[in-house]
Amino acid sequence: MSTNNPRYDLWAPRTRANPLPLYARMREEAPVVRLYDPHLRTPVWVVTRYKDAVELVRDSRFTKDMRKLSAEARDRQARSDAMEAINQHMLMADPPDHTRLRTLVSKAFTPRRVEELRSRVTAITNELLDDVRAQGSVDLLDAFAFPLPITVIAELLGVPVEDREQFREWTNIVINPPINGDFAPMQKAGMEFIQYFQKLLERRRAEPRDDLLTALMSVEEQGDRLSPLELISMLFLLLVAGHETTVNLIGNGVWALLQHPEQLARLRANPALIEPAVEEMLRYRGPVETTTQRWALQDTEFHGHVIPAGEPILASLMSADHDPEQFRDPERFDIGREPNRHIAFGFGIHFCLGAPLARLEATVAINLLLERMPRLRLAVDPAELRWREGILVHGLQRLPVSVD
Ligand code: HEM
Repeated sequence: MSTNNPRYDLWAPRTRANPLPLYARMREEAPVVRLYDPHLRTPVWVVTRYKDAVELVRDSRFTKDMRKLSAEARDRQARSDAMEAINQHMLMADPPDHTRLRTLVSKAFTPRRVEELRSRVTAITNELLDDVRAQGSVDLLDAFAFPLPITVIAELLGVPVEDREQFREWTNIVINPPINGDFAPMQKAGMEFIQYFQKLLERRRAEPRDDLLTALMSVEEQGDRLSPLELISMLFLLLVAGHETTVNLIGNGVWALLQHPEQLARLRANPALIEPAVEEMLRYRGPVETTTQRWALQDTEFHGHVIPAGEPILASLMSADHDPEQFRDPERFDIGREPNRHIAFGFGIHFCLGAPLARLEATVAINLLLERMPRLRLAVDPAELRWREGILVHGLQRLPVSVD
C-alpha cells in the first residue's frame, strides 16, 4: 500500500481547510479504516467515532512505547522517526515508565499551581496587545498567539525566552513530517535541540535557579528516576506541547468567533461566558486534530478489523468531537454549549498534562483581546486563509487582522 485511498484523503489541501465533511462520511462508512500516511510513508489506522476513540486510548493492547515493537516493525517506523533520542518522554511511554515520568512534573501543572501564573499571563498578554494596537494590522498568530504561550512555558521551565524564534523553527521541523520523504532536516533539528539543551544544562548546573529545569536536573543527578536523555526529552515535550498547541487554540478560537459574529457579540456582551466559550473552541476546531500514534502489540481485533502487530493506529479527536451520537447539532458553534464533554485534550492516562495552563492562557488572551480591540476584524477574505499541512496540528498558517 503506497498511495492513499482517494475516498478518504485526509491529507488533501481541500480537506485541511475543512475536514468535517470527510469525517462525517468516515464515521458513517468506515469508522475504523486503514489509510496510507503520505508524509510518514506508512499505513495508519484511523478511528473516527467518539466512543471508539475513547475506547482506543484506554486499550492497553495498543502501546505508546516503540521499544516494545519487533525489530522489523521498529525499522518500518524508523524512517519516519529520526527523533528517537528526544522521544524518551511520557507521551511515548506506557506504565510504569509513564507514571514515573509524569509524576516528576505533574505538581507544576495542577490547576492550583497554574492559577498562580494568572497575573504573569495577564501582564504578558497586555504587553503584546500594546504592540498589536500600535501596529494596527498584524498576523495575529505571529504577533500574539505564538509569543504568549512560548513566553509562559519558557519562563516556567527556565529556558531563555530570547531563543523563542529558534524553538519555533525547530518545532516546526520536528512535528511536521517532510512531504518529500527527506528526514535529514528533522534529524538535524533534533540534534541541534539536544545540543542546545546540553549546553543550557551545563550553565544551569553552575548557576541553579528556582525553575523546573533546575528541579528536574537535581532529580536526574540523584540517580535512577530520570536518565539524561529522559530529562532532555521531557524538556522537549513540555516546550513543544506547551506552545505549538495553545497558539492554535487562540488562532482557531478567534477565527471561529470572527466567522460567527452573533457568537462574538454574545461573548463581548457577556465576558463571563469565556470559560464555556473556550471549551467550545476546543470542541469545534481544537488545535490537536488527532491523537499521536499507538501501535498494536500483537495482531489485535478492534471493531471488526484485525490491526496487525506493529501497525500504527490513531483517533481523530476532531471527528469524535463532531460525532452526532455524542453532541447535539455538532456543526453549530455555540459558546454556551452544555453539556460539552469534548476530548480535545485526549482521554485516559495520557490526558493532556497542560490542560489547566492552556485553558488559563486562552481565557485570559481572548477576553483581553476582545476587551481591548473592539474593532477586531479579519484583514483578508476568509477564503484566502490557508491551513497547515499534516493531520496532527490543526491551525492556520496566518491570521491577518485589523484592530483600528
Ligand atoms: C490547547 C492546547 C492543548 C491541547 C489541545 C492539547 C492536547 C493534548 C492531547 C490531545 C494530548 C494526548 C495525546 C495522545 O493521547 O496521543 C496531550 C498530551 C500532553 N500535553 Fe497537551 N495540549 C495542549 C496544551 C498543552 C500545554 C500548554 C502543555 C504544557 C505543558 C501540554 C503538555 C502535554 C503533555 C506533557 C502531554 C503528554 C501527557 C502524557 O503522556 O501523560 N499540552 N495534549
